[in-house]
Amino acid sequence: MSNAHISESPWFSYRDGELACEQVPLASIAAEVDTPAFVYSGAAIDHAYRSIDEALSFAPHLIAYAVKANGNLSVLARLASQGCGADIVSVGEMQRALKAGFPPERIIYSGVGKRREEIRAAAQAGIRALHVENTQELDVVESVARELGRPMSIGLRVNPDVDPKTHPYIATGLRESKFGLSIPVAEELVPRILRSEHLLLESVACHIGSQLSSPQPLREAIEILGRFAIHCIEEGARLRAIDVGGGWPMHYGQEVDPYPAASAFGDAIREGLEAADVLRPGIEIITEPGRALVGDAGALLTRVLYTKTQGARRFVIVDAAMTELIRPALYGAYHAIMPLVEPAPDAELTPVDVVGPVCESGDFVARDRPLPGVEPGDLLVIRGAGAYGREMQSMYNARPLPPEVLVDGARSRLVRRRSGPEALWQGEILE
Ligand code: LLP
Repeated sequence: MSNAHISESPWFSYRDGELACEQVPLASIAAEVDTPAFVYSGAAIDHAYRSIDEALSFAPHLIAYAVKANGNLSVLARLASQGCGADIVSVGEMQRALKAGFPPERIIYSGVGKRREEIRAAAQAGIRALHVENTQELDVVESVARELGRPMSIGLRVNPDVDPKTHPYIATGLRESKFGLSIPVAEELVPRILRSEHLLLESVACHIGSQLSSPQPLREAIEILGRFAIHCIEEGARLRAIDVGGGWPMHYGQEVDPYPAASAFGDAIREGLEAADVLRPGIEIITEPGRALVGDAGALLTRVLYTKTQGARRFVIVDAAMTELIRPALYGAYHAIMPLVEPAPDAELTPVDVVGPVCESGDFVARDRPLPGVEPGDLLVIRGAGAYGREMQSMYNARPLPPEVLVDGARSRLVRRRSGPEALWQGEILE
């Protein structure tokens, strides 16, 4: 078996036989903060931001980072300082975004079930737009704006009914998904919004799903969205923006064919908007990438605790688990695993199950993964863990939350401490 699956990147590469993040040896981070630990490359985040920025250079645009992918304050602050905006789905995410330095006028709020208090808090903070996804929600938004005595800037999130051809759990733009408004329902709402003195219809939005393997469905959805935008303009709306959602893919390492480059997704967005004839001065393009900005920038550093063979299966038991990275258990997701010490080119690879200590059979990082031999104490690096890793973590089995480290060239900085025992019972009341 070859070890072609073990892929280096400009940000995670072997230096003198040991894996480093930029110029910092991962072994030194493990020695400093122990394992498991998340490590992020600042340069990888900057690079991803620039690629999407360039792909959209054909029009004025705002990249509104989907905070749900990784809301670490230092990650957010890094993006905010580059002019990035934030796409949030809760007031908690809004508080994070504001604390990290995103100006409210660069924050947009999507989400299928916003509470009245959340809508009120967003209005009070003066965010740029709230995306309405439901007729009843529109009533609540209008009544909140009336109560506050100032009009609320809203967008209509429509559901274009396009198959994104991705994992069913992350497809969001099909007719029967819970997200967005169908176009006919959205069209019915337009005159009512335009008549309201409490609402400003300033944008239209859609998000068909994550991890799009082809830009074609995006182009198709955007043309439908663009036509809806034209409809709104013809009805009298002064649209400021068209939000085309997220979906920009990242490589996890198992792909047979590489995903098209960011420029291909940028072209698909431009073509969809051109086809609907909505690429006009005064209308900004908004996109909401999450994983494409931070996924590849992050790795989960873990240590082998034990190995064992049960029947025909060989297990490598590591100290990271579904509590730090639930994606394999939840979606059967693939994450590349690299030994910290560079294997010899002819090292023999044996298929193993890499599993965590949590008491669930579903607690695995990889199954039947060809890896060179490892021993207790060896370090492994789980790649592609920058997005939906720490955000979906839990303290199941009373496990502490892992530390996070941000690397910048030759410098590494602890940006979150490992949680201590008090975090295990925080908020509990013991009489
Ligand atoms: N915009 C909206 C409205 C979204 O719902 C999402 C993701 C995004 C943007 C960002 O999508 P991205 O660019 O990251 O693909 N936990 C799953 C992903 C759930 C994504 C939900 N919405 C995973 O680990 O793959």
